[in-house]
Amino acid sequence: MEECLNRSCPCLRALWERIFKSEKKNDGLEGKSSNVDERIADSDLDLEERYKTLPSEESSVYVALWAFEARDKDELSFNTGDRFRIVRREGDWWVAAKLDASGRVLATGVVPHNFLERAESVTLQPWFFGKMNRIDCLSHLLTGQNKAGAFLVRVSETDNVGHVLSVKVKNKAKHFKIYQSENEFYVEKTCSFASILDLVQHYQSHPLASVDKLGKPCVKRKPKQQDLSRTTVDMWELPKEDFTLENKLGNGYFADVYRGKWKNQTQVAIKILKNNDTLNQKTFHMEVEVLKQLRHNHLISLFAICTSSTPYYIITEYMEKGNLLDLLRSPEGNALDLEILTNMAYQVADGMTYLEDHNSIHRDLAARNVLVGEGYVCKVADFGLARIIKEPFYMSNDLKIPFKWTALEALELGIFSNKSDVWSFGILLYEIYSYGAIPYSGINNKGVLKEIKSGYRLPAPPKCPSFIYEIMQSCWSEQPEDRPAFKWLKSELNECINRVT
Ligand code: ADE
Repeated sequence: MEECLNRSCPCLRALWERIFKSEKKNDGLEGKSSNVDERIADSDLDLEERYKTLPSEESSVYVALWAFEARDKDELSFNTGDRFRIVRREGDWWVAAKLDASGRVLATGVVPHNFLERAESVTLQPWFFGKMNRIDCLSHLLTGQNKAGAFLVRVSETDNVGHVLSVKVKNKAKHFKIYQSENEFYVEKTCSFASILDLVQHYQSHPLASVDKLGKPCVKRKPKQQDLSRTTVDMWELPKEDFTLENKLGNGYFADVYRGKWKNQTQVAIKILKNNDTLNQKTFHMEVEVLKQLRHNHLISLFAICTSSTPYYIITEYMEKGNLLDLLRSPEGNALDLEILTNMAYQVADGMTYLEDHNSIHRDLAARNVLVGEGYVCKVADFGLARIIKEPFYMSNDLKIPFKWTALEALELGIFSNKSDVWSFGILLYEIYSYGAIPYSGINNKGVLKEIKSGYRLPAPPKCPSFIYEIMQSCWSEQPEDRPAFKWLKSELNECINRVT
């Protein structure tokens, strides 16, 4: 491989040397550590350029990082470690040829591209996670299977930061910038190495600053798929018979939710609607088609609907830890510190920024409508559904409007906007930092309206930092135009993460 790279692309030799050559250049000094727990911000380093353009695209071999089971005849099943050559790239689903040990083609079929990784690259190290920000990193390290000392190396999203070594310590992450000068890599000035691999190996047997030795590489989370399968990408109406219901996750005014399976394989959440008579079939289909196009890491993916008979089903991705409100009120939630709470608030703001950018309004943003997965990944659920499913209820019965979460102009004049969502986001922040308290507890809906109109606002929850409370208050400005945009809230909360850690 090295030979081949040398011949075909001599200019990449230096890069090859840096990444893979492992003559140890440790000067043996393990003096007092410098202050290496850097505060690292985020931006754009071109990972593609760093790693992915090494050999020519077509000839490169890919390796499966996770196993995958085919769901239809076009798809190709594979196991972790299987090797592939890519035949064609079509969005998230690639046509790939599975190879045997001598490179002969065993089978060809469609595979999810994010289950594969380039075989030649440093990205194959189990601890290398590529481009990743602090928020994602914390969520990976906090996944239950990782013990203290679990670590990863990532490429910061912040300009000029480069590689960062992140280590799990108790229920937190410590981040160490990996400095690079000439052909040396180091975290502590007194201890440099010829490669990142050497650096990692060294700290697997020696302490690093305030952290004990590195433990096991952070477990790589199997990526969640954005669709049930390639064939269902454009098929959002699916037969009910493909779904089996398992246990009930919750019930509400509008729907009951079950955990279930698609074709006995893929875990999904199944929402069974109650108000079928009030739904206009055509409007429902049109709106759902729009919702299916909204794709973001912090929004629940809508997979399909089943509307050929009542009751209608809405099929979405399944989130292991259930809704944020119940989590906050549980013993597990009660133990979450300000860093994780702020991290979760940031993720919600991130999902809402996407909706804002796509001119989509949620209308029912609240902790009960945020779902939580492994590593405290938070996703906004039920966006857009308020209008198509809940509106008939809102119209017929005022009591079902989520008064305490709804902005004044929406309650009084029916004017919903991204800015009324921002008001609700302020209440959601209150729920997060009060570990799931009921807002305006002891006051009824009418009373809340009166109080809000006369200028009253919720007090800061106990132990809520003043800079977070200021953000909440800005969301409750009387005039919608005086409230911040989600984009601003997202960047403020990112700053706050640095202040609470
Ligand atoms: N409760 C409601 N929707 C859910 C989902 N998608 N995953 C897990 N729990 C849920």
